[in-house]
Amino acid sequence: MPEFRTPKGTRDILPPESARWEVLLARFASIVESAGYGLVLSPMFENVEVFQRVGESTDVVRKEMYQFSDKSGRQLALRPEGTASIVRAFVQHRPPTPWKVWYAAPSFRYEQAQAGRYRQHHQGGIEVLGTEDPDIDVEVIGLAWEFFARVGLRLVTLRLNSLGDATCRPIYRQALITFLEARLPQLCDEHQAVWKDNPLRVLDCKRSECVAATADAPYQLDFLCDACTAHFARVKEGLGALEIPFTLDPRLVRGLDYYTRTTFEFASRALESAQNAVGGGGRYDGLVEEMGGPPTPGIGFGLGLDRTLLACDDEGVLAAAEVAPQLDAFVVDFAGGTAARDITAALRMAGFRADRAFDGRSPKSQLKSADRSGARLALIVGPDEAAAGRVTIKDLRASPGTPQEQVDRASLVDEVRKHLT
Ligand code: HAM
Repeated sequence: MPEFRTPKGTRDILPPESARWEVLLARFASIVESAGYGLVLSPMFENVEVFQRVGESTDVVRKEMYQFSDKSGRQLALRPEGTASIVRAFVQHRPPTPWKVWYAAPSFRYEQAQAGRYRQHHQGGIEVLGTEDPDIDVEVIGLAWEFFARVGLRLVTLRLNSLGDATCRPIYRQALITFLEARLPQLCDEHQAVWKDNPLRVLDCKRSECVAATADAPYQLDFLCDACTAHFARVKEGLGALEIPFTLDPRLVRGLDYYTRTTFEFASRALESAQNAVGGGGRYDGLVEEMGGPPTPGIGFGLGLDRTLLACDDEGVLAAAEVAPQLDAFVVDFAGGTAARDITAALRMAGFRADRAFDGRSPKSQLKSADRSGARLALIVGPDEAAAGRVTIKDLRASPGTPQEQVDRASLVDEVRKHLT
């Protein structure tokens, strides 16, 4: 038999590790829902054109997309990111604006798999469609900031930039093209070949040749038009008012094509630098139109949940042992199993977390399972207890030698409640 394993770049997330995911998702949901965002569930695959619109000149779309044709020959792709699907859904359903939505879903990118870089990763994201107000930029950034803080991370930093709009970006782009044209031989091999597709991306290249060649490149921040300058000023003021520290990074160019105006990235100082981005986002004021909808501004972020948990490991917060749900009671029944069946059902009905052993195992083996389960109480029913309609309660966290108590089956739920409070 072949040995089946997860495909390269993917992982199983098993208990108790998965409990951290539950907590992370619950915190994310609670933060964004309390700010008026509603959940969107969209398909994990879309017509490939939906994604081509968001990044024809990007690695994410050009090189890393899981693309396939289905049995009818439709060209489809697994989603490499969340924004394109939300914008497609907006154009398809035309909900009233501002449309504030969130999602938490896997994304797929055929990347070089390594720690913190997976072929299936998970993002928690929000998107707002239909408002240009710079205060929404502040809200969006603020919610991501609050999420990292509520998870317990202290080493997350925020970088901020503005990429201009349809008025000032073309002027900047031309200035950058002129600058790069004069330095083409100094760029890295890849960018010598493709720099013209998206000259801004050269600023984001980490190879030493490009870094050196663009050291004194012009920046979009110096080319912002009055409207973009005013927008950005209000965003910075708002972040200041919320006491969210940030650094301006005029070289911050995001890895997707759709960004305009405010762009931002969160990094964790606890992670290795190549994979330290724990989230990012920005405005995409032209994307809805590009997808066939009416002119509609948009902004959002995607937070990398896998990397957020790696940052949690490094900062020593949100450990599985701290957050994994503990059982209240484990029923040990060596009188036939009927008591275990009925008691666990009654306890669960009453809202307790209860489990039991199966297969009529020996008392010793069942008690071992009770210990291993992490339950607070073992509820023991042997033949004597069964005959007398009683249950022995053993507090598994009490010091050895602590006397055990016997109670009536009829009052068991109340007795368990007393022990747990
Ligand atoms: P992104 O920066 O490509 O943005 O991805 C967002 C986050 O997902 C990254 O900061 C990172 O934490 C995580 N991530 C990306 N690729 C991987 C990977 N291969 N393995 C592990 N984690 C990864 C977007 O996707 C945009 N849709 C964000 C956005 C929403 N912009 C506006 N709205």
